[in-house]
Amino acid sequence: MTSALPIIIDCDPGQDDAVNLLLAYASRDEFDILGVTAVAGNVPLEMTQRNARIISELAGADDIRVYAGCARPLVRELVTAHEVHGPTGIDGVEIFEPKIPLQPGHAVDFIVNTLRHAADDSVTLVPTGPLTNIAMALIKAPAIASKIREIVLMGGAMREGGNTSPSAEFNIFVDPHAAHVVMGCERPITMIGLDATHQVLCSPARIEPIKALGGASAGAVYRMLAFFNKHDTEKYDSNGAPLHDPCTMAYLINPQLFKTKKCNVEIETESPLTMGHTAVDFWRVTNRRHNINWVYAVDADGFFALLTERLARYG
Ligand code: BDR
Ligand code: CA
Repeated sequence: MTSALPIIIDCDPGQDDAVNLLLAYASRDEFDILGVTAVAGNVPLEMTQRNARIISELAGADDIRVYAGCARPLVRELVTAHEVHGPTGIDGVEIFEPKIPLQPGHAVDFIVNTLRHAADDSVTLVPTGPLTNIAMALIKAPAIASKIREIVLMGGAMREGGNTSPSAEFNIFVDPHAAHVVMGCERPITMIGLDATHQVLCSPARIEPIKALGGASAGAVYRMLAFFNKHDTEKYDSNGAPLHDPCTMAYLINPQLFKTKKCNVEIETESPLTMGHTAVDFWRVTNRRHNINWVYAVDADGFFALLTERLARYG
């Protein structure tokens, strides 16, 4: 048996971030979850850190260490997505005051200290929100970059266009400057943007089997996805909302579900019109460095089969 992969999940729950946490907690034989770090994004930081603890407690993952990170992007004002995720960020789940404590210390320091003490090329970072915490850690301690095995993140868009502005995806739009820092870190980065996640639709036929599992975790997933579905099916005129963030853990569990191409991706940080656009050189028309493993297709049925099988583990 191979040993569990050390990971840090950096997130802004958000229903889809929450589902990603539940997928990770159901897969602890494969992943050594060193910590969960929260960032401001879908909702403000006080909610994302609390939501991360609520989801951990719901899953019985009481030993998970949750840290609060940056309350706003590096340069710009925070933009949230309450209209998608509801007032709490995880509408669909009943909010309670979690017993799991917030860890003392800042998420950025946790990331820096954890990586400092890790072996080279050993820790995988899984960001599913704006990249503020990850960029801050790289700025604070550039030497930690060599400790990163891979960054598997949700963000960006090419063919699919933007979901927050005509040309930008939410996570990159919220903190384009942080994304710029991360793109330049010279470590392997797999980027799962809207081109891929818009193929992963929560259709009734795919989420009913999750409801049928019963139990607290699968029930919460079903209710969160049903909530999420209301907004997005109208917005995209689709048969279900795109399930973005759980593509990161699914990629780590079974990369064969995804099609990827190594190419250059740069971030627009200046133009007010296209701020946060990801310029993906998919056809390699420049000679810029292939800094990104760009995900462009997903076996969506395979993804839902995996998610449902993992959620069944909660019993
Ligand atoms: C991303 O934005 C957020 O609203 C979701 O949680 C996801 O990380 C999709 O654009
Ligand atoms: Ca997110």
